[in-house]
Amino acid sequence: MTKLIVANWKMNGTLESTRKFCQQITSFTQESKTRNTLVICPPALYLKSLKNDLKEGDIKTGAQDCSAFSEGAYTGEISARMLDDIGCEYVLIGHSERRQYHQESNDLLSQKIQRALEAGLCPIFCIGESEGDHEAGRTQDVLREQLKVLGAFKGNKSIVLAYEPVWAIGTGKVATLEDIQNACAFIKEILFNEYAVVSPILYGGSVKGKNASSILSLPAADGVLVGGASLQASEFWEIATAV
Ligand code: PGA
Repeated sequence: MTKLIVANWKMNGTLESTRKFCQQITSFTQESKTRNTLVICPPALYLKSLKNDLKEGDIKTGAQDCSAFSEGAYTGEISARMLDDIGCEYVLIGHSERRQYHQESNDLLSQKIQRALEAGLCPIFCIGESEGDHEAGRTQDVLREQLKVLGAFKGNKSIVLAYEPVWAIGTGKVATLEDIQNACAFIKEILFNEYAVVSPILYGGSVKGKNASSILSLPAADGVLVGGASLQASEFWEIATAV
């Protein structure tokens, strides 16, 4: 089965390192093939050059965020329509770092998803519990609460979900395979039963070349969202070809 492998570069890299990444990944794609769908989300400023440098391959691009507004006097914002305009196809929404450092609320996230869908982008909506909630056994309650954002999108088939336990992001602590399988299956069940939404569910949080194949083999995991390990083309390719 085809999996969705998404790279989230966060605020890392330069124009030069972006070019080098593209050269390396292009040579990997010429040497071997993957049936998986690959998406790279660089800093927005590098989207256009990444897109140009990847033009021969089948790799898609995504943004790490978009504005909740369509257009107008919102200094510093980038609209979903602008992202679509430069050929971007996906956008991360509600990443835990956005929730933590920019106080993004459920209402705001709902507006961002709406703007992304209007612009024809595929939103990758990120959810996940904190370490405290995990240890207190409240994971399912937190996920159920975060999924309420989808109340406005009942029946939608164009949203991707990413389950990223906050305590596993950038820490090297990966959730157990059992926890990943259970959380992804739980999310699928809620989406289907309460929102009539059928969507791929990605796992994110310290995914590396060495653990990708066991995570991607889980029946409920339709792909992975990779941060740190996606910055090196060779490791990203190892993950991309893990199944
Ligand atoms: P990580 O980040 O792979 O570095 O843990 C994942 C993410 O934040 O999407």
